Amino acid sequence: MKPRKIIAGNWKMNNTRAQTRELIENIIPKAENAACEVVICVPFTDLETAVNLTHTGNIRVAAQNCHFEKSGAFTGEISVDMLKEIGAEYVVIGHSERRQYFGETDVTVNKKVVAALESGLSVIVCVGETLDEREQGITREVVARQVKIALIGVKSLENTVIAYEPVWAIGTGKTATDDQANEVCAFIRETVKDIYGESAASGLTIQYGGSMNAKNAAGLLAQPDINGGLIGGASLKAEDFGVIIAACTL
Ligand code: 13P
Repeated sequence: MKPRKIIAGNWKMNNTRAQTRELIENIIPKAENAACEVVICVPFTDLETAVNLTHTGNIRVAAQNCHFEKSGAFTGEISVDMLKEIGAEYVVIGHSERRQYFGETDVTVNKKVVAALESGLSVIVCVGETLDEREQGITREVVARQVKIALIGVKSLENTVIAYEPVWAIGTGKTATDDQANEVCAFIRETVKDIYGESAASGLTIQYGGSMNAKNAAGLLAQPDINGGLIGGASLKAEDFGVIIAACTL
């Protein structure tokens, strides 16, 4: 089975409700005839607006984080059931910014992945090495560890997407070359194959993320092991996001 192609915009901590409305209205026509699935990953406070504006179109809405417990004394956290109820279909888990700034670890990523999948959400699990790790030549070790731990206890990959986001390429304007990005995505597929077998691995959507933009998207998305993108900065501009969506052909 061929993987579903998915272009996802990770808005990070951007856009008020009014800005969300405007951006989505501009993205809707770009997504209308898309050959791929389009996902927008919005701040918690924009989820309801995003769900209401997209429920008839082919844009899916994602949250950018969740907690792994069902409920309880976890001030400031949001549960997977809360996300489900509001109409989110995906949740991004383990983004490097959360690992870097908010103490996310491989173990908490795994707990969140399991909780989200159990609740019926789909997950976009982010992995990727730092510049230091790449320079030390341990990219594969790091990525394999992140992937394997994230998936402990996950029986089926049906609702799982993996995003390869080298930390050194995020928000830096330094994109991985087409070959560099494809090489690690292919390695992720191999790693997954060892656990889940050939058919699950070949059907898994693996995205690339890190300074993907309107200019470099076509080259990256043409790579055999890259099945979509997770886009930060360029997803905040409807024009650029539209070009990237159009570059994602079947
Ligand atoms: P940029 O596209 O801004 O580099 O961000 C990538 C990213 O972190 C998406 O999750």
